[in-house]
Amino acid sequence: MDDLFIRYEDLHKGFGENRVLRGVNLNVLRGETLVILGGSGSGKSVLLRHTIGLMVPDRGRVVVDGTDLTDLSEEELMPVRKKVGMLFQGSALFDSMDVFENVAYALREHTGLNEEEIVSRVSEKLALVELDESVERRMPADLSGGMRKRVALARAIALEPAGILYDEPTTGLDPITARTINMMIRNLQSTLNVTSVVVTHDIASAFMVGDRIAFLHQGEMAFVGTVGEARVSPDPRLRAFLADLHGGDSA
Ligand SMILES: Nc1ncnc2c1ncn2[C@@H]1O[C@H](COP(=O)(O)OP(=O)(O)OP(=O)(O)O)[C@@H](O)[C@H]1O
Ligand SMILES: [Mg+2]
Repeated sequence: MDDLFIRYEDLHKGFGENRVLRGVNLNVLRGETLVILGGSGSGKSVLLRHTIGLMVPDRGRVVVDGTDLTDLSEEELMPVRKKVGMLFQGSALFDSMDVFENVAYALREHTGLNEEEIVSRVSEKLALVELDESVERRMPADLSGGMRKRVALARAIALEPAGILYDEPTTGLDPITARTINMMIRNLQSTLNVTSVVVTHDIASAFMVGDRIAFLHQGEMAFVGTVGEARVSPDPRLRAFLADLHGGDSA
């Protein structure tokens, strides 16, 4: 089996005069957790959206598990979106649906599971994010930020994806809750054997969950290496970013 799971190749994306991605090259290896660090507005969410065809590059391409996304129709993108789950920035739960229905949604849309199987799959996924059945009938608005993240995570893994994309999974959470979510990301990687891409500007999270770190700066990957290499990298751009976050607000 190819050990390459996602490949971004010379990816360019702009909005009018705003050239956001200016030739991103990056490989995500099967089974690893790769953290993408970058400042606010650097294009982290834009990059993630390209991974499942929610945005189309101006130039370059994305290849997921051997499938080149270039020119795929919405219908042809479905298998890719089933293979790679996404935890959106801000959770993006369906507010009119309870927890159970939020997690069951993709199962109803994309599998032939019967109701009994759906019930068991939902509670299994909630258990993986350490939520029990008592939350199933609660509405998203009644949940804490940490619980909303967990529900969103259960929803992202409902279809048992081979890859998970996390967009700012710990932003806005208190440090203890953030730590719990980070441990969950690590646990999911080992129990489900998934490949993960975690976008964050939270440096503590990055070093806790990542095997490797990629630093997106001015539209390019200014650094790619292991967590250990990132710690000692002399690259002034990475150093400045790490030092900045250390002292101040990470927003
Ligand atoms: N659909 C869009 N239309 C126009 N501009 C966009 C669109 N999506 C993103 N942008 C612009 O692209 C740039 C990168 O946005 P992006 O959301 O990827 O940043 P980010 O790195 O995720 O930041 P944050 O850490 O704040 O989430 C920003 O300047 C943003 O305004
Ligand atoms: Mg973002």
